[in-house]
Amino acid sequence: MKILVINGPNINMLGIREQQIYGRQSYSELLNFIRQCAVELELDVDCYQSNHEGALVDTIQGALGKYDGIVINPAAYTHTSIAILDALKAVNLPAVEVHLSAVQQREEFRRISYAGMACCKTIAGQGFQGYREALIFLKSGATVPVVIANDAQNSK
Ligand code: DQA
Repeated sequence: MKILVINGPNINMLGIREQQIYGRQSYSELLNFIRQCAVELELDVDCYQSNHEGALVDTIQGALGKYDGIVINPAAYTHTSIAILDALKAVNLPAVEVHLSAVQQREEFRRISYAGMACCKTIAGQGFQGYREALIFLKSGATVPVVIANDAQNSK
């Protein structure tokens, strides 16, 4: 099973940025952690990070036909990017949204997630472990294709 892990802007600054919120571990330590999880869970995992919205959209589009699922921390674009939401809807791969911090307990503007509207699950506030939980969830196959999930909601 092939999974693409996508991280958005400033995640490359882990270990430097706001340590009281995001911890002391660096982005390369996050990559090592995800690689260890991939071995443990016997998943084929690739990781990608960009600070650019369009590059993230291109990467999501490029996942179609190559990956079985996406783990995404869109970082600040979570709260602003309809383009990322639309890209996730377009490829309609099972996607799990991850946030290192407990976004719901922070500023009001972090409570809205556009990307999350195209994801089967959101995991927040668990630090690096959130990525492991997301991989376990995708591996379990307990995902509903988002288009079908949305149709079901619309027909309520
Ligand atoms: C974040 C939360 C976002 O609100 C913030 O803009 C980030 C990181 C998280 O992982 O907790 O950059 O996605």
